Amino acid sequence: MSSAGRRLRAACAALGLALLPLLASAAPPLDTPGGAQGALLPRDSRDAAIFRGGLVYSNYCVTCHGINADGNGRAARLYNPRPANLRMSDKNDAYFALIIRMGGEALGRSPFMPPWGAELTDEQTNDLAAYLRSINARPKE
Ligand code: HEC
Repeated sequence: MSSAGRRLRAACAALGLALLPLLASAAPPLDTPGGAQGALLPRDSRDAAIFRGGLVYSNYCVTCHGINADGNGRAARLYNPRPANLRMSDKNDAYFALIIRMGGEALGRSPFMPPWGAELTDEQTNDLAAYLRSINARPKE
């Protein structure tokens, strides 16, 4: 490889390393009881499910539902009805999993809520439901 090529590769590697903390901080805040942040979580724990669900959410849902899950994602204004404010949802976990898998249309709602059943695994879907439950801010009746 030419020396220019080697320099380019070194620069790319350095940039990748510099971006790592940025990528890590792009995940939604994990505010779990017991100070789970940073600790190694047992795979089957609820905290781990919430953490994984937050990562899936960042990848697939943010554009419409927004980084704060308040329904104000970048693309939200393109849709009528607008993406739901997931923090204020009155739905239970089973309904979360159902609409995530089957999409809005299958449930008599907007087709703009896509069906994710062919894209996400059952674990990812259940993790998403756990994440949505953890950020739900609807006052309990
Ligand atoms: C292309 C835009 C779009 C994307 C991407 C999207 N949604 Fe939606 N979502 C919507 C819209 C629009 C609605 C409202 C449907 C309605 O009111 O009929 C909705 C509704 C919902 C609801 C119902 C909430 C309630 O209280 O009834 C849930 C749960 C939900 N979305 C979860 C997700 C999750 C999780 C993802 C990522 C895997 C996601 N959505 C990705 C557009 C989107």
